[in-house]
Amino acid sequence: MGDFIQVTASAPGKVILFGEHAVVYGKPAIAFAVNKLAHVTITDRTDSKVHVELTRLGVGGFLDLENETIESHDNKPSKGMLKYILKALKIIKGRTEFSQSETPSQKKGMDVTVDIEMPVASGLGSSAAVTVATLAAASKYYEIDLEAEEIASLAHQVELEVQGAASPIDTALSTYGGAIYLTQNAQELVKLPLDWDLPLVIAHTKRESNTGELVGSVRCKLETYPSIINPLLDSIEQVTIEAQRALLSRDDNRLGELMNINHGLLDALGVNTPELSRMVYMARQKGALGSKITGAGGGGSIIAYCPEKMDEVLHELESKEQAFTIKLYDKGVTCKVVE
Ligand code: PMV
Repeated sequence: MGDFIQVTASAPGKVILFGEHAVVYGKPAIAFAVNKLAHVTITDRTDSKVHVELTRLGVGGFLDLENETIESHDNKPSKGMLKYILKALKIIKGRTEFSQSETPSQKKGMDVTVDIEMPVASGLGSSAAVTVATLAAASKYYEIDLEAEEIASLAHQVELEVQGAASPIDTALSTYGGAIYLTQNAQELVKLPLDWDLPLVIAHTKRESNTGELVGSVRCKLETYPSIINPLLDSIEQVTIEAQRALLSRDDNRLGELMNINHGLLDALGVNTPELSRMVYMARQKGALGSKITGAGGGGSIIAYCPEKMDEVLHELESKEQAFTIKLYDKGVTCKVVE
């Protein structure tokens, strides 16, 4: 190769509609890919360094793939995203060592530019989207054939290495797009045939959410009060099972009500905050049929289901917080090469 000037891969983020936290204990979940993407562009450098720039976040740094170190002068929390990129690039670089002959670009460094459309650490799957897009862009750049299944599995491996724990939901949705029902014990990711646009609004607290810490706090509650917390997790499971039926039969009222119940259960698990609660009730007051935390909670985002009331809910939330509408995104990761 060596003729490539630029490779860009784009992967969608996700929202969890039902089942977060309970999914960690083998319960089902419903989630789908959304039209907020991460774009990763790789271009040649004249020296042998690897430089990464997270454009919207104002974070950048040099990565040493061999020693797995990051040199960055930024101290923003979003600097953590560099770890996912480092691991993903290292995996792909490792693969090139097995290829027959070394291509010119293997010896050269690269500039990696990352543009993330969704707020980070907010329950919208930004790290999975960046990881999947980095794997796809780097494999194309090095001319390595990676099937979608392999990208999803490597991306999940990266998330496990960086975070310590992660369900395969985010990385699967960033790879394949669409809507999924994750069955009990994460045995299977079943594609949900949703062919209508759910009227959904996301509102995002400025507080970043730490998934690992929140999963840990729920575990702690479960260990302290097993006879109380286990039934709550069982209830979330039943809510998710009912919600799948309501989604497929497009039963708006039932879907909204189930979201509200799921929110109450998440509150009981201790992952709600006053800001999230305020936004959840603000959305309902303006006509949302359902609203709840989406993702780990403790900050991050809420999701509101608003048939016929999208504008009202959006304007209300927008006036106080960062809010936007989202759409189901059917495409998975895509890659574009400019020669
Ligand atoms: O906030 P997020 O997108 O990291 O979602 C976390 C969802 C949990 O169920 C709390 C954890 C997980 O890995 O499924």
